[in-house]
Amino acid sequence: MKKNEFEEYLYHSLDDVTDSRVKEAMLYSLTAGGKRIRPLMLEEVLEGYGIDPQKGIYFACALEMIHTYSLIHDDLPAMDNDTLRRGKPTNHVMFDEATAILAGDGLLTHAFAFAAKTQADPAVVVSCMRDLSESAGPDGMVYGQCLDMQEKQSYTFEDIRKVYQYKTGCLLTIPLVIAAKLAGVSEKDLSLWKEIGYKLGLAFQIQDDILDVTKTADELGKTNSDIRNEKVTSVSTLGLKQSEELMNELYEECLSLCHNLDGFDPEGLVTLINSVIQRVY
Ligand code: IPE
Ligand code: IPE
Ligand code: MG
Ligand code: MG
Ligand code: MG
Repeated sequence: MKKNEFEEYLYHSLDDVTDSRVKEAMLYSLTAGGKRIRPLMLEEVLEGYGIDPQKGIYFACALEMIHTYSLIHDDLPAMDNDTLRRGKPTNHVMFDEATAILAGDGLLTHAFAFAAKTQADPAVVVSCMRDLSESAGPDGMVYGQCLDMQEKQSYTFEDIRKVYQYKTGCLLTIPLVIAAKLAGVSEKDLSLWKEIGYKLGLAFQIQDDILDVTKTADELGKTNSDIRNEKVTSVSTLGLKQSEELMNELYEECLSLCHNLDGFDPEGLVTLINSVIQRVY
């Protein structure tokens, strides 16, 4: 299952949902494109353990639903107030604010019903669903977004690091954790996956900050709003050069850690991380 096949699954993931304006809005953002990094990570980790990625398809779709919901809400006027996402008008611009809020709510809740369809040891599925909830909710991404909204101009990079760990790191770590749990890895390797996810999340958000100031909205497919919103970012605290250095260092550490896992062939995951490093949007 590669990107095109995944798109097909994702497109049909809302087939059973009642037709409505909110369903239309959910489908609009979910199928608007996007790099699909989180589901592809889940797939590559399963494959690295020699497991059919099909086993993780419901979690892969659920992850993309939750990520898409986080973007719809992140773009709202009360948050980053952005008008372009994935090369298209943001959800609240295309529909309206109330519908965009509901589309996010719909994607978040539908994600868990979808993940629950996974055919595996029920205890493992429940454990993965609990982890998914924790990573997405008020101890995870939502907590990070809360810190992001409360950010102060006096923040240093150390303060920002915590915001990034939660707002971005949690949803980039969870595909690794879910795949590792479905593969039945040891506690030691589970900790290693969390460490890889933490570094990857930090590097990914630093790169997002760099792209925000070095690319145009056309190139990014999203409005670059950090400067307009006077955001405190890695670039605003460390400068461009030091941000790039730190990002490269973190990515290198991630790639190297991928080789330290028992019974795991890192080739596919390393190729995916390299494509993330090379990304231009
Ligand atoms: C954007 O995530 C939000 C951040 C965490 C920086 P992605 O860069 O993965 O966005 P899509 O899914 O490709 O649109
Ligand atoms: C948001 O970070 C990460 C989320 C949890 C949605 P940003 O606000 O920097 O993401 P973009 O740049 O809008 O994609
Ligand atoms: Mg934001
Ligand atoms: Mg934003
Ligand atoms: Mg950004």
